Amino acid sequence: MLDRPLVTAPPLEAPLRRGQAKPNLLTVEDAKALDPQSMADLFKDHINPGQFHFMKLLGFHKVKVESAEGMFYIDQNGRKILDFFGGFGSLAFGHNHPRIIEARQRFQDEKRHEIAIAFLSQYASALAKNLAAVSPGSLDMVFLGSSGSEAMEAAIKVAERASGRRNCKIVHAENSFHGKTKGVLSLTDSPLYQGEFKLVGNTYKVPFGDLEALTNAVQSDPDIGVVVLETVQGGGGIIGAPTSYWQGVRALCDKHKVLWVADEVQCGYGRTGRFYAFEHHGVVPDVTALAKSLGAGKAAVGAMIARREVYMKAYGTPKTAMIHAQATFGGIGEACVTAIEGLNVLYDEDLIGNAEAVGAYLLERLEAIHQKYPTIIKDVRGQGLMVGLEFQDFSRTLPLALRPMVAILDDKLKGSLSGFIGALLLRDYDVLVAFTEYNRNVIRLEPPLICGEEHVDQFCDALDDLLSRGIVSIVKDFVKSQMG
Ligand SMILES: Cc1ncc(COP(=O)(O)O)c(C=O)c1O
Repeated sequence: MLDRPLVTAPPLEAPLRRGQAKPNLLTVEDAKALDPQSMADLFKDHINPGQFHFMKLLGFHKVKVESAEGMFYIDQNGRKILDFFGGFGSLAFGHNHPRIIEARQRFQDEKRHEIAIAFLSQYASALAKNLAAVSPGSLDMVFLGSSGSEAMEAAIKVAERASGRRNCKIVHAENSFHGKTKGVLSLTDSPLYQGEFKLVGNTYKVPFGDLEALTNAVQSDPDIGVVVLETVQGGGGIIGAPTSYWQGVRALCDKHKVLWVADEVQCGYGRTGRFYAFEHHGVVPDVTALAKSLGAGKAAVGAMIARREVYMKAYGTPKTAMIHAQATFGGIGEACVTAIEGLNVLYDEDLIGNAEAVGAYLLERLEAIHQKYPTIIKDVRGQGLMVGLEFQDFSRTLPLALRPMVAILDDKLKGSLSGFIGALLLRDYDVLVAFTEYNRNVIRLEPPLICGEEHVDQFCDALDDLLSRGIVSIVKDFVKSQMG
């Protein structure tokens, strides 16, 4: 509990008040002034005490971000932390891009309207037009929401209805991540997230990138009407598939009149060096979804984009139009304006080209580090600024003397060099990286698309220096930090 006195505005005099008394509420200024200990207490008391435990293991709980600009967070001590995590791909423009801030500021100054349910919204209409313009083929019908899960829910619903199957089954991939809301949770391949919830039962799982398995599934069951795949698996540890696979998926779906939904929530929006990752393979899906960087790091925006023919089949008549029309915050004004400006900045600043060029430099530098430390790094992979760094699983190779030390750590980190490396990169080198849900040996690198070679050098020099300490010293150092 927070026990220090709060800076609050004086309450309205009791005789003047007609409704309930104001509870003890924090103000915005109170929130800004919270110190790390109070933040930790409130997080544990009101948000997620279990999650706090993991944040503490990684040392994240000591950081209070006071501001953020470009490639950096700035903490309470003025420390600049290089952001190679990028909010799992949510920060294409880095933090607080001036053009995005200006567009939002102007919108507020002009007292524009936000909710887009009663009247037509010029902002939602323009954003939908822009999304159609950046999408290939006839992907031009847009549903706007406020998260990746919501966009993916819309994607599977439109595809299921348009598939024409009464008992439509949906294929998804092993190690997939499509969100945690109840519909898409059924397609997210994780016992952890699926918990013991009752999920929708019409799903069918195949290995990712295995065309034969997908073909067998589709051929063996005519009820299969939809195939849902991330073009690059993010939560699975940055796993792609070759062009032959994607062309095979397209041909198979065409042959069997199955609809292909490409989840581009994490890998889309220019991250891999094309606006959509599927554009590397010369194919176009029937439905796709974007979120994360679509909100330009300042707003929550998700979008489902469907081929017009698919959309019209599902919701094309006045009778069916409202089955999945926008929710309360779908197409909200300031979020749309933010996304419109973001798309313009993305092309004006050639950030997709930058992602391709700087991503190639990042891979080149990481490959050299891989060659230098082959017993520590197992693999370096990815495309553009969506890169995975996989460490050797050292749970069996760790020197015997260190095993009791590591055994005292939580299960989540046992044998996971990526957790140790990530924690020490932050503590000793001011660099933030991200972890993957399904493979604890992989670090995900998804820096903002404004990333320059100098930032790659800062990150790679830090990693090289850390790895040069050797595995024993890294493990001892990390374990010691947990004792203190
Ligand atoms: C590929 C993919 N799909 C869907 C989602 C869900 O997005 P959100 O967390 O915005 O609901 C994510 C989130 O990480 C994702 O990576």
